[in-house]
Amino acid sequence: MAETAWNHRHVLSLSQFTPQDYETVISTAVSFRDVLSRRNKKVPTLQGKVVTNLFFEPSTRTRSSFELAAKRLSADVLNFAPGSSSLTKGETILDTAKTYLAMGADIMIIRHAATGVPHAIAAELDRLKTGVGVLNAGDGQHEHPSQALLDLLTLCTVLNPENPNIQSLKGKKIAIVGDIVHSRVARSNLWSLTACGAEVHLAGPPTLLPARFVDSFQRSPIEPPDISRQLQQHTSLEAALKGADFVMTLRLQRERMAQYLLPSVREYHHQFGITHERLKSCSPAVKVLHPAPVNRGVEISSELMDDPERSLIGQQVTSGVATRMALLYLIGTRGRNAEVLDGN
Ligand code: NCD
Repeated sequence: MAETAWNHRHVLSLSQFTPQDYETVISTAVSFRDVLSRRNKKVPTLQGKVVTNLFFEPSTRTRSSFELAAKRLSADVLNFAPGSSSLTKGETILDTAKTYLAMGADIMIIRHAATGVPHAIAAELDRLKTGVGVLNAGDGQHEHPSQALLDLLTLCTVLNPENPNIQSLKGKKIAIVGDIVHSRVARSNLWSLTACGAEVHLAGPPTLLPARFVDSFQRSPIEPPDISRQLQQHTSLEAALKGADFVMTLRLQRERMAQYLLPSVREYHHQFGITHERLKSCSPAVKVLHPAPVNRGVEISSELMDDPERSLIGQQVTSGVATRMALLYLIGTRGRNAEVLDGN
């Protein structure tokens, strides 16, 4: 495998990622996807390394997918369940992280309902000069980098199955629909998709997509080269869907709604639910994504979710393992990227 340019100890946010970073993740994930199609799906890359899955919030896909990715790379994986942990006895999150550090953790994967927890743990690990890498697996409504990266791999694969690469996204129209204000998936995707040259169009009810939401994403923190982000928000769903190449639907994140922000779920489906009928104004080859879990019949119709011609939901989950293998590899072998995939 070729040497890669990669200089992130942690992956906490995609706001600072360059197009080169995305290309590195995609090409590394594609190599791991090849590994996953072999009879022997394991490589010795992270043998002897300890990966901890610190999920302080429920998860099915992300936790299992990180666990499988770490196991495919031959790491030792420690899973943590808050309900049966010493958190119930009053231990702090930072002390929990330090406990795993003392056991020799090399990489910590962290999900928490509060924004900034992975950043706080990473800062403490850096202060202690541990060299341990932190992967943000979702912090509050802030970011979910690995989800956006697996979405990127899924999109690039649809656009160019033989050679998935970020160039194929240039000028593609991607509509993101629904509960955007509460969505860490949407925020991470905004950074990645716009950095790769896609045109992103947001639509949702005004309570879930505040006016001027996109303003904070217009200025790129990356320089040079400056990225001119193609990002628009709409009050009408029709404007967002017209000619779209991809539609990303989002779950109504009721656990993050402080008050009732919608008249009714039925009304929401009527106005913003994605159905076959609604896709008629999109590009004829349009595909639909959803990070899941899905509320069937709310943000997307059951028929559309189950339509293999249109729905990429299963592919997203599959892409997750290879993408997370790529992230664990890039973080876990920083500075010595060579001897990885050739183990067998
Ligand atoms: C998302 C999450 O947890 O942010 N799901 C996921 O990781 N696959 C989206 C959601 O919960 O709706």
